[in-house]
Amino acid sequence: MTAFTPVLPELTASYLRTGLHQVKGWLNVSTAVYLSGVQAAQRGAGVNGDVAEIGIHHGKSFLCLALNLPADQRAVAIDVFDDQAANLDQSGRGDREIFEQNLATYGAGDNVDIVQSSSLDLEQAGFVAAGRRFRIFSIDGGHTDLITVNDLRIAERTVIDDGLVVLDDVLNRHWLGVITGLFSYLGDGGSLVPAVLVPNKLILATSADQAKHCRAMFAEQFPDGLEKADVPLAGHQIDVYGDRPWLVRGEDGRSEPVTGHELMATITAARLAELEQQLRSARAELDTTHRQLDTTHRQLAATRQQLRAAAQPLYRRAARRLPWLARPVRPVFRRVRAVVRRSRGSSDRDGSLGG
Ligand SMILES: C[S@@+](CC[C@H](N)C(=O)[O-])C[C@H]1O[C@@H](n2cnc3c(N)ncnc32)[C@H](O)[C@@H]1O
Repeated sequence: MTAFTPVLPELTASYLRTGLHQVKGWLNVSTAVYLSGVQAAQRGAGVNGDVAEIGIHHGKSFLCLALNLPADQRAVAIDVFDDQAANLDQSGRGDREIFEQNLATYGAGDNVDIVQSSSLDLEQAGFVAAGRRFRIFSIDGGHTDLITVNDLRIAERTVIDDGLVVLDDVLNRHWLGVITGLFSYLGDGGSLVPAVLVPNKLILATSADQAKHCRAMFAEQFPDGLEKADVPLAGHQIDVYGDRPWLVRGEDGRSEPVTGHELMATITAARLAELEQQLRSARAELDTTHRQLDTTHRQLAATRQQLRAAAQPLYRRAARRLPWLARPVRPVFRRVRAVVRRSRGSSDRDGSLGG
């Protein structure tokens, strides 16, 4: 089923349609749609705040958050970049130069702040003390449980009331530190509330009420994406949104596929053509077999006919001789019949005595 995105600003629409698959990184195509759509919807609803991401690599997901920001909003990119010794579990490898090139290529404005730091050092650097200011805070840096707890706590203390926190790789079986960290955080009284799961990312709100708003916003923006509603998670109900072949609607009225899905569509079309070819060959073989079967049936019928014709004189000759053959056999038949009758009569009498 094709799915339609909400109408997105031109830069975002064009990044999704043609830029996304050029930028290296780890981001599900549908999740790129959801992140971009949420950012645009918040902006449309007048939610006033900055956006931030811990863990940039080349900026694939950051660009979903940072395009089309109003002049008075900032996009903050946090990564260890060159200091890869601080990338404790070697999750990705931030490259500031490529990141900055991508910002320029896809039209992120001047309002990007790059913070080269481990997220473990942010609090000491006064990042939290600077106050609540983010409307979206994406966490995709180190994937250990301790870093996940650290990053969730930083996000919790810096997002605004109607802000959202996006936690990456929450169900990635290779990075189980993330889910371990999430449950530690929730178990230790973390105040963020799970609201929506998109492919590979969990979106949390600042309260149960805000989680409800977030779910309502998703239902309104992405009606084609809902996979399952009201799924229980750690004492909360969340909605699960899935992977779809999105058509990106732009402000110019055009609806075009997301590049990743376009590629997928090309691959699928090629496979389909291959299968159709196989089907055609199989049909041709079946036709040949049917024709051979018809020929065999016709040959069989002709052979039967010939056999019958050949047997006719033999039947006739045998019939002529039958009375002569039957005469000596008749007395033998009579005797056999008498023996059978006698034996039936005696078994009837035995039956009545026994009753
Ligand atoms: C999985 S990649 C991020 C992927 C990226 N969000 C994307 O869309 O492709 C993880 C990034 O986090 C950075 N990183 C790892 N540990 C970090 C930490 N403790 N603090 C900040 N950045 C970290 C790495 O350098 C790497 O660029």
